[in-house]
Parts: sequence; structure tokens; C-alpha cells
Amino acid sequence: MNLTLLLHVLGVVVWVGGMFFAYMALRPVAASVLEPPQRLTLWAGVFGRFFPWVWAAVALILGSGLHMLAKLGGMEAPHYALTMLALGLAMMLIFAHVFFAPYGRLKRAVAGQDWKAGGAALGQIRSLIGINLSLGLLTIAVVFVGRWLLLAS
Ligand code: HEM
Repeated sequence: MNLTLLLHVLGVVVWVGGMFFAYMALRPVAASVLEPPQRLTLWAGVFGRFFPWVWAAVALILGSGLHMLAKLGGMEAPHYALTMLALGLAMMLIFAHVFFAPYGRLKRAVAGQDWKAGGAALGQIRSLIGINLSLGLLTIAVVFVGRWLLLAS
């Protein structure tokens, strides 16, 4: 299970760490120093680089997570592992929505230089990534608190 856990955690580091950097560091600076045309073009490019890595992370996290879950007894696994499955699936659905809906609109708006529509799409992406970042940090906390409670009981 060690290699599987390593792949799982690497996927989590790439996805959650990338969201943390984008949301907490890049976003406020881009908002304060760039005008909409540069800012929206920057974000379309940043997401174009980051999202393929997120798809790879999602595949790795889901594959390794389900594999470990099966070894822990499937639906008989500890509650924290099943909670992780639920939170992880919610995060993946939110990411898929971001990718296919507002990110698609952002790319089209940047290509057509429609900065108003681009700003609206970026606003939606920002809210959804804020939610996913919170869910990701919560999921990490759930594993450790869950394990601790299991050991303490
Ligand atoms: C999508 C479905 C997912 C499934 C089925 C799943 C399943 C699992 C399982 C079975 C373990 C091993 C638990 C143990 O040995 O006690 C684990 C570990 C872990 N998972 Fe997940 N997971 C999923 C998604 C996620 C997500 C989205 C995150 C974070 C954002 C995450 C973070 C972690 C962490 C931090 C560990 C503990 C690593 C360690 O032992 O240090 N998982 N996961």
C-alpha cells in the first residue's frame, strides 16, 4: 500500500498545492497590478498549463484511493476513508464543471477579446476554486483527525 499511498499524496500535493498558490498568491497580485485584458489572458494561460496536471492528479487520486479503500474493506472501511471518498468525488465534480463550463467560456472570451464575459467566467472559476481549496484542506484534516479518533477509541 506504500507506493499507492505515495501516488495518492503526490496527486493531492499537486492539486491542492496548485490551488493554494493560485488562490492565495497569484490571484490577489494579478488583480491589483493587471488590467482585464492582461489579467484574463494570464489566467487563461495559467489554467491551460495547470488543468492537465489536475486531470492527471484526479486520475491518480481516484485510482489509488479506490485501490486503498478496497484493501481497507470497501464499504466496511473506517468512516474517515468513506468521508474522504465523498469529499473527493465532490471536488472532482466541481473541477469537471469548472473545466467544461466557465473555463471554456473564459477561453472563448479571451480569444474574442470579450473582457466583460471573460471577467464573469473568471469570477465563477475563482468562487469554485475557493470552494475546492477549502474542501481539499478539509479532506486532509478529516484523514488525520479520523485516524486519531480511531486510535484513541
Ligand atoms: C476520491 C476518492 C478518494 C478515496 C477513495 C481516498 C481513499 C483514501 C484511502 C483509503 C486512504 C488510506 C487511509 C489509511 O490508510 O488510513 C487515503 C489516504 C489519504 N488521502 Fe485519500 N482518498 C480520496 C481522495 C482524497 C482527496 C481528494 C484528498 C485531499 C484533498 C485525499 C487526501 C488523503 C491523505 C492526506 C491521505 C493520508 C496520507 C497519509 O497516510 O499520510 N484523499 N485516501
